Amino acid sequence: MEQPLTDIGWFECKPDDPEIVRQRAYLEANNGIQGIEILTAGEIERAVNLFHRDGFVLVENILNDEQIDFLARGCNEVIRQIVALDETYAGNRGSHRYSFGGSSLTRSQLHRPEWQMLLELDPVHEFISAFFGSSHYTLRAASGDFCLPGAVDYQRLHSDTRDWIDGQQTPFSAFHDPLGKVSIRDLPAPYICVNFLPQAVTTLNGPTRQIPGTQKSRTPIPALSEEPEWMKLSTVCPAPAGSVMIRDVRAWHGGTPNLSNTTRAIPNLEFYAPWFQEPTVPGITYQDYKKLSPRAQELTRYSVADSSEALLTGPTLRAP
Ligand SMILES: [Fe+2]
Repeated sequence: MEQPLTDIGWFECKPDDPEIVRQRAYLEANNGIQGIEILTAGEIERAVNLFHRDGFVLVENILNDEQIDFLARGCNEVIRQIVALDETYAGNRGSHRYSFGGSSLTRSQLHRPEWQMLLELDPVHEFISAFFGSSHYTLRAASGDFCLPGAVDYQRLHSDTRDWIDGQQTPFSAFHDPLGKVSIRDLPAPYICVNFLPQAVTTLNGPTRQIPGTQKSRTPIPALSEEPEWMKLSTVCPAPAGSVMIRDVRAWHGGTPNLSNTTRAIPNLEFYAPWFQEPTVPGITYQDYKKLSPRAQELTRYSVADSSEALLTGPTLRAP
């Protein structure tokens, strides 16, 4: 079975530094949401309840051993390509942290067969259809992120969506209420992220922290300096390899330290609700698209290049 990488990370900090050793023991003892529920495929009703209550849900046994191995190999290959461009592990999500999409020339990994495989998982479609109340959703992104051992800092809590701002500043603010009364937070989830785990996520390898029930909150998101300790420990772990974490992207979340000796990857697919759309860029050639199942083709209909177009793919280091 392919294993996470152990020969990269820990740039300008040492795993046996006394402060790191102390923090590692603290996280081992305290990190993780107490009593977190882990569902299995087919537990749709419970998943719907948890998703709407908490803004996320964790489901195990979605990938089988063969799929875990295939995905882990793909992630490791991409990680090596990206890290080869970044000697000091400066990252593009903070030091030692990277976006799989932000580190790709196409802003996506959809050209890779490992991410295409993720489109074909029936249990995931059952959950997403139930959360949206419709199967007519579409792919937003095939991306995700990874962190290296030695990612010692917390990423600040944030939401992946925002209310409308000037289109000159970003194309990613498609919801505009000209009366200024309705926020994106008053609506159902505009898009949903599914993170797939090619390795276990533990108290020590950078589990995602999720603050339950914040997907509709209009409260300002606390900065790191203001964040209470319980939020820093509100992480989605432990979770076995082959699990998925399905997130309403509006819910407050952030990266946490990876004090282990291995890389931690959480490749993802992001799906737009049937009623929501932003500009998308092609991530898969027409020739590869034609090899997908009919349902995966429907999902990727806004992500496919024209049949006359080639895709230039490969690693790059772009700021988020
Ligand atoms: Fe995020």
